[in-house]
Amino acid sequence: MNIVVGVTGGIAAYKAVSVIRALVLAGHDVHVVATDAALRFVGLPTLEAISRNPVHHELYDGVAQVRHVAMGQAADVIVLAPATANTIARVAAGLADDLLGTTILASTAPLVVAPAMHTEMWNNPATVHNIATLRARGAIIVGPASGQLTGSDSGPGRMSEPDDIVRAVLAAVRPRDLKGKRFVITAGGTREPIDPVRFIGNRSSGRQGVALATVASERGATVTLIGANIDIPVPDSIATIMVTSSSELADATFEAAASADVVIMAAAVADYRTEAIAESKLKKEIEGDELTLRLVKTEDILATLVSRRRRNQTIVGFAAETEPNDDRLLELGRAKIERKDCDFLVVNRVGWQEGFGGDDNSVTVLNRAGDIVMKASGTKLSVASHILDLLN
Ligand code: CTP
Repeated sequence: MNIVVGVTGGIAAYKAVSVIRALVLAGHDVHVVATDAALRFVGLPTLEAISRNPVHHELYDGVAQVRHVAMGQAADVIVLAPATANTIARVAAGLADDLLGTTILASTAPLVVAPAMHTEMWNNPATVHNIATLRARGAIIVGPASGQLTGSDSGPGRMSEPDDIVRAVLAAVRPRDLKGKRFVITAGGTREPIDPVRFIGNRSSGRQGVALATVASERGATVTLIGANIDIPVPDSIATIMVTSSSELADATFEAAASADVVIMAAAVADYRTEAIAESKLKKEIEGDELTLRLVKTEDILATLVSRRRRNQTIVGFAAETEPNDDRLLELGRAKIERKDCDFLVVNRVGWQEGFGGDDNSVTVLNRAGDIVMKASGTKLSVASHILDLLN
């Protein structure tokens, strides 16, 4: 993708370097347009080295290439990071007396704006009005965050973290190919109570499920996320139901699935629960040197979903396996999809170091016939994108 990053003159310009770097590392062609004020905060060689492209700031350079409009015309998305109050006012007014102004005016691409300024400037009616104008034109405003500002002051006005800005930029250019579809996605790991303070759980963090929900929502789907003990942030656009045990997860999932087009069971569901939950905390003096817990099988939610499948409903299961050998792992996956009879099975290896908790994942997706239909490795967000490509 061709991404133009407009860097303007605020102290947060140093953080723009991280935004540019993340976009380049994600494989995009990044062109920086810096204002003269920005170059007082961060050096042109830094921006060129990090973006791996020449950095332009002069309106009258490259006239033969009609650069003042060419960059805007070629951009798939433009991001202003940081966007000062002055730049926001200029963009809202449509001023075109510098290269950044002409680039933005000549573009029909999505515009992502990451404001950075002092709280008083952010709250000033002029800025409030300018931001409303940009929003009304479809600009995506990321932040600002609240926190310590450059002086001793703190409050709203800090530029959002580079990761959040990058996510917004990539979300702005996602296809809306899941519009109109209703997704139910489970995430996290269930906890089966032993007594009022203890449980049997697993190490699933819910990150892959939340990534699926995030990308599905960004691609236009209506998403219900059923989260079992997840403690990672979930975008506001996603209706979230929090549950704890496998039986709560089952109830919430069956209810939501009754009107869903797609159900994705990314949650790690306990296979066994305690037969009885102690009413009060188990005591060593009473239990003695050994404690036996009697466990009974939980309901297989995925199997029940499949047995109640609505017409045209797609059901996706996950297989978390510790098998180290790739061929054996696939065999286990094939046996599992045959047993579960879902439409797709996402096979991933889990273990002490893999799968659970991290930011990255590596998966192989099987169809009902047991054929490999997709393999993906990378961030859980990019893996989510590849999985959703199978479901549009
Ligand atoms: N699953 C479920 N209900 C359960 C257990 C698992 O719905 N009680 C779902 C999981 O959400 C996942 C799929 O079934 O989508 C496979 O889960 P997994 O733990 O890999 O397989 P199991 O069927 O539990 O088999 P085993 O643990 O013996 O490999």
